[in-house]
Amino acid sequence: MTTKDMKDIVALCKRRGFVFPASDIYGGINGFWDYGPLGVELKNNLRDLWWKAMVTCPPIGPDGAPVEIVGLDSSIIQNPKAWEASGHVGGFSDPMMDCKETKLRYRADHLVAYLWKKSEPGKEKFVAFHQEAEEEEKSRRLKKIGFSTDLAEYQKYDFNDPAILGNLANVLGPDAREFGTLTEPKQFNLMFHTFVGATAGEDNKAYLRPETAQGIFLNFKNVLDSSRVKMPFGIAQIGKAFRNEVTPRNFIFRSREFEQMEMEWFCKGEDAKKWQDFWFKERVKFWKSLGLSDENLQIRNHDQDELSHYAKAGLGTADIEYKFPFTAPDFGELEGIAHRCDFDLTQHQKHSGTKLEYLDQTTNERYIPHVIEPAAGLTRGVLALICEAYTPDPGRPSGVYLNFTPSMAPKKAAILPLTAKEEHVPTATKLYLALREEFAVDLDVKQNIGKRYARQDEIGTPYCFTIDNDTASDGSITVRERNTMAQERIALDKAGDFLREKMKG
Ligand code: GAP
Repeated sequence: MTTKDMKDIVALCKRRGFVFPASDIYGGINGFWDYGPLGVELKNNLRDLWWKAMVTCPPIGPDGAPVEIVGLDSSIIQNPKAWEASGHVGGFSDPMMDCKETKLRYRADHLVAYLWKKSEPGKEKFVAFHQEAEEEEKSRRLKKIGFSTDLAEYQKYDFNDPAILGNLANVLGPDAREFGTLTEPKQFNLMFHTFVGATAGEDNKAYLRPETAQGIFLNFKNVLDSSRVKMPFGIAQIGKAFRNEVTPRNFIFRSREFEQMEMEWFCKGEDAKKWQDFWFKERVKFWKSLGLSDENLQIRNHDQDELSHYAKAGLGTADIEYKFPFTAPDFGELEGIAHRCDFDLTQHQKHSGTKLEYLDQTTNERYIPHVIEPAAGLTRGVLALICEAYTPDPGRPSGVYLNFTPSMAPKKAAILPLTAKEEHVPTATKLYLALREEFAVDLDVKQNIGKRYARQDEIGTPYCFTIDNDTASDGSITVRERNTMAQERIALDKAGDFLREKMKG
């Protein structure tokens, strides 16, 4: 099997217009990315399919009735009191360590330390690495400091282990040359702040939301009062979130500005388990329907010590994880399905003084509902889809193609006049104008046909329609299928039906 190299994937994303470093002409800005002409199409496809799966066409519930979910688009900046109530001002922080030598900052829970078993007793030395560091990088570093490069000879420590924290003087930081340059971990809040209005004082301080979820809780009463939703029901939202991540890494996997697709499912506390199981199955089904393979998906329950503050008391959080090329053979989080209990609504009720209870009109019972929250990354989902689709193939001119499903492909078909001759181009243009009413299609006139096929392979277009000399005589066109490169002829006037049929599958 050919391996997928992140460097090649990032290069293709830039070369073909999926993802660019933000502020590229100024040398970029760490943790921020721009989505190019094809990236934005891919992101919109994922966004639209999620919205359909959640809001316009949600699944049938465990009792056989369709579930009810409404949409929302709340403000990125909310009253700062909301973030105090939600626990983000006090608690949304990571344990950070600074390196006095390199001035670099690390998340303590993202570091691992290795003790060479052959270290002399009493003079133990530890080497720290970022947990996502590649084996090659680790070996190179170990060799440099005269340690064995065979990782099997080491004892691996979690960085929060007292054995490490009590021995910081004997630890070599991930980028340092000297031992003992890492500081004790300190809490660092991840929320970006700004000032609203002309004065830059504490009273005007506001936060950029670190999750879209809180906008949903803040509007719980507005939605209840303005719509006809009845418990259980959901409110869904897609939008930007911001976190001042200390170590943004791995391309768009962990960035400082990103997009989330979150749905808060409100239900009775006693039904939380049933709904968490239900949403878990539905969410796995969703990712598979977009083309993520079984072997690259796994389910992982959070350990008690990694649960977010809002999920500690309940059934916990289960993650859907994807085997990204940079995590392989391990997996990285794609979506979490948390039981947030009644934490958020209770907090907002307490801090705002507004009742956030649900009144059951039939039984006259009042209660604060529990929440099951499937929270997915839209931009992280885009990365999973690109990594899954990336298929090296030395047998074709492009050397690689993107194996997107037709529904996910940024362009569903390319219309290619065989030559730039008079009779080919007008027919191709006519077909393009007809198809673009319904599908995202590309008209590509220039360069030889092989180069144009190669470009479409690299951007993952599943079908190429070629207009040639036979089109004028018998009204047929060639369809080239991306993965097999097989060609067949179909009637020109059946191109729309052909694509419609393929999009269903
Ligand atoms: N409302 C719950 C919540 O925000 P989370 O696990 O912190 O939970 C949900 O975030 C999803 O958002 C993650 O599973 C991941 O896909 C995405 N995500 C979180 N932080 C991210 C980051 N810095 N960059 C890109 N995506 C991120």
